[in-house]
Amino acid sequence: MNAKDLSVSRDAVADPDVRTANARADSVPTADPAQKQSLTRQPAGARAAGRSTPHESARAQVAGAATYVDDIPELRGTLHAAPILSTVAHGKLLGVDTTLALAMPGVRDVILACDIPGDPVLGNFSHDEPVFAQDTVQHIGQVIGVVVADTVMQARRAARKVVCHIEPLPALLKVQDALKAQSYVLPPVFVKRGDAAAALLKAAHRLQGTLEVGGQEHFYLEGQVAYVVPQEQQQWLVYSSTQHPGEIQHWVSHALGIANHAVRVECRRMGGGFGGKETQSGQMAVWAAIAAHKLHCPIKLRLDRDDDFMVTGKRHPFAYEYEVGFGDSGRLTGLKLMMAVNCGFSADLSGPVADRAVFHADNAYFLEDVEIASYRCKTNTQSNTAFRGFGGPQGMIVIETIMGDIARSLGLDPLDIRRRNLYGIGERDVTHYQMKVEDNILEPLLAKLEQTSHYRQRREAIAAWNQASPVIKRGIAITPVKFGISFTATLFNQAGALVHVYTDGSVQVNHGGTEMGQGLNTKVAQIVADELGVPLAQVLATASDTSKVPNASATAASAGTDLNARAAQYAARNVRDNLAQFVAGLDRCGAGAVQFENGEVVTPAGARPFTEVVKLAYANRIQLWSDGFYRTPKIHYDKATLTGRPFYYFAYGAACTEVAIDTLTGESRVLKVDILHDVGTSINPAIDIGQIEGGFIQGMGWLTTEQLVWNDKGLLTTHAPSTYKIPATGDVPEHFKVDLWPEPNREDNVFGSKAVGEPPLMLAISVYEALRDAVGAVKPGDQLVVMDAPATAENVLRAVGSR
Ligand code: MTE
Ligand code: HPA
Ligand code: MOS
Repeated sequence: MNAKDLSVSRDAVADPDVRTANARADSVPTADPAQKQSLTRQPAGARAAGRSTPHESARAQVAGAATYVDDIPELRGTLHAAPILSTVAHGKLLGVDTTLALAMPGVRDVILACDIPGDPVLGNFSHDEPVFAQDTVQHIGQVIGVVVADTVMQARRAARKVVCHIEPLPALLKVQDALKAQSYVLPPVFVKRGDAAAALLKAAHRLQGTLEVGGQEHFYLEGQVAYVVPQEQQQWLVYSSTQHPGEIQHWVSHALGIANHAVRVECRRMGGGFGGKETQSGQMAVWAAIAAHKLHCPIKLRLDRDDDFMVTGKRHPFAYEYEVGFGDSGRLTGLKLMMAVNCGFSADLSGPVADRAVFHADNAYFLEDVEIASYRCKTNTQSNTAFRGFGGPQGMIVIETIMGDIARSLGLDPLDIRRRNLYGIGERDVTHYQMKVEDNILEPLLAKLEQTSHYRQRREAIAAWNQASPVIKRGIAITPVKFGISFTATLFNQAGALVHVYTDGSVQVNHGGTEMGQGLNTKVAQIVADELGVPLAQVLATASDTSKVPNASATAASAGTDLNARAAQYAARNVRDNLAQFVAGLDRCGAGAVQFENGEVVTPAGARPFTEVVKLAYANRIQLWSDGFYRTPKIHYDKATLTGRPFYYFAYGAACTEVAIDTLTGESRVLKVDILHDVGTSINPAIDIGQIEGGFIQGMGWLTTEQLVWNDKGLLTTHAPSTYKIPATGDVPEHFKVDLWPEPNREDNVFGSKAVGEPPLMLAISVYEALRDAVGAVKPGDQLVVMDAPATAENVLRAVGSR
């Protein structure tokens, strides 16, 4: 890295365009390995945070040298487990015949519910899910037991030879059927402000509609996996690919009937989680632990991709009914909204997911008189779970659809309708859950994007194009995002960290968060490096480990950096304070006068290398390590009424997307995307832009090609990459520009930054709205475009055809 790159400080990059350019240039990895290892001085003023340093594992990852759970060298005697799946969506489990399976080569045993030493019910929040199905099965793919064999392929082959006797019962497969049958995993929730019915009656215009939005498979590149190693005296070591090592620890100890302290869970990194490993990595660990307990040997359980699709939950599919009233200007006056949430067979995280959908049904808009009903429906399918956005996308898409429909019905531009409905400043600024929106930048952000994307000119050009083009039609849309940051469950908004300074001056940081590719460890190390004034290469972040930082929350809700980088900053600050006091004593100055920068400790009397100070401090018996703890301030809310301040702040963004559709085949392409997104003061612009690009493309997949199809027996028929299509590199729009909003977080958050992990996914709603705009080109002016998501070729064609 050259001196120019190092000089890119957070102050020097106010213009978002400049920041984009720097991020890209700066993120090119240096070829000089000495750079990474060197513990030498950086140029004066250099700081680690605010710079586009490469991801801490980037080199190891591209070299194949970064270890995932399946790469850990297996101990002698390790056996492999594979799951036995229910082939019936709902039924009585009468018996399991293992004879054929046990006769297969390499097979050691079959593990069933009777082998669970502790509670046969999983130790999760809702306590409604069996570890292994017993007596009844509730979806195709539910795990009845595991086969253990010498190799993973032997275990998988034998698992298919286990015969389960199941007497079928009627199954609820559609969310509408579950709603009718009042089949719920949790009670419905109603949120109300003002009088929606009266507002609708009075409204100059009214629209009614229904909408369905599909689920989404996480398709993490590294599938679900756990490796359980028995230790001495009923203690256990679990390697798990998980966003929540603490939850794995709870579930495993609960199933084994032992105390939490006897289970240690470690996760160095995941090959993606996307919410799919927030809870549902736990099952793998529990199943492997039960087998390891029975057979007294290490057990590895790595799901085959097809099994991963069949066993684990996905993003919740939603169905909506709405009625909206609005004035001549398009300003919304009343809204009645019903959301039916397809939770699958158990609650898992469905409560908080459905809550977040309610919280985000406003997206960026002030809903005056509003009534929302949220039904958490139980169906005989996989138990749906966290997925990037966590209900937020499903909350927002319906109000964005409504905005698009209002515009079309009035013959006005959708961007104008959206802007007229935005939250105000000092008025119209309280959400339907009674939180005041204090940090609103929506209007200037949309105005800037309108200008930089040349939205108005392009809309005219597209109209001209559509006039001249009979088959290929284009469409364009700008949609905003306002996403609440904090776990909706207030108690999870806490974090801990440890910072160790060794006597050579090198620093190790450990925190309760997990690395899934999002760059958390890189950002934490940047913050710690600056707190101690040492070069970034001097700081090493180590594997998440329940024996280092206990009771850590899941790395989720995009809050990983907000929580863990602050905790790590506080830990580093404690060590720095110890050193400052010590040096102040040597130099007879106040501790406040001691500066830590550029690898030096500076007092009015002079400068010493950090490394030298550490050695001296050690010799004088000064503590060189510390813990740090952070809890998010200001947040609270009432679970029953969903009112209060669930979020510390909001992350904002907007995207302008242009698409083309083929009106004869329904095929579509995303042509151009311009994004303006708010990450506050970026700790690492390259990583943040990567999150924005990745989040957008993942959202685009959800709304276009990724379709989950269950047949009338409840079998998920799209359970492999052959039939389930995530976006590929060729689907990335040719024009894809990401700019960062140039203001710090208005709340006191680490480095002035904002969370970035999930919000950009919802920018992809602009793809869906642009597609509806393109479909609209073949319809009479005010006829609404009705199109469920995902907008597959079939759905686009259906929407085109429904004149
Ligand atoms: N980015 C990568 N590369 N891989 C992932 O699995 N998960 C997303 C997001 N970005 C994910 C990702 C989700 S669902 C969340 S909640 C956040 O990262 C979690 O990490 P953070 O809180 O540190 O941003
Ligand atoms: N996001 C992710 N995970 C969660 C949340 C949330 O808001 N609340 C509880 N678990
Ligand atoms: Mo992310 S869905 O909160 O793991």
